[in-house]
Amino acid sequence: MFEWKEEYETKIEVIDEQHKELFKIANESYALLKNDLILDKYDKVIVIINKLLDYCEYHFSTEEQYLLDIGYKKFLSHKVQHEEFIKKLRDQDLKKMDENQDEYLMNILNFFMKWISGHILARDMDYVQFARTLS
Ligand SMILES: [Fe+2]
Repeated sequence: MFEWKEEYETKIEVIDEQHKELFKIANESYALLKNDLILDKYDKVIVIINKLLDYCEYHFSTEEQYLLDIGYKKFLSHKVQHEEFIKKLRDQDLKKMDENQDEYLMNILNFFMKWISGHILARDMDYVQFARTLS
């Protein structure tokens, strides 16, 4: 389980909702991966991981628009962070798994969530600070 923590809260409603949705989808995928009662779960897990990536791209575009709206000075470097992350994940060929499918998918999920939570705490909180200076 990937646990949502209070320290992830930006207090910007739309951003917090979307961040929570990322955790929710990641946990769906995690639960499925851990469920040994379902046969042929890998196709389903891959569908959810792709859903996670699609939602993540959607979230990044919302966030980038918000950063433009508030005139955030580090907009470009923030956007580059998002783009590099998505590219790295999109370059993974999920169909290429051979043995250890559980481990392979779990590694991707762990990498995803570790990056997202680190990014929220370091990068997103920086624009939160900036936004607070505006009000
Ligand atoms: Fe971000």
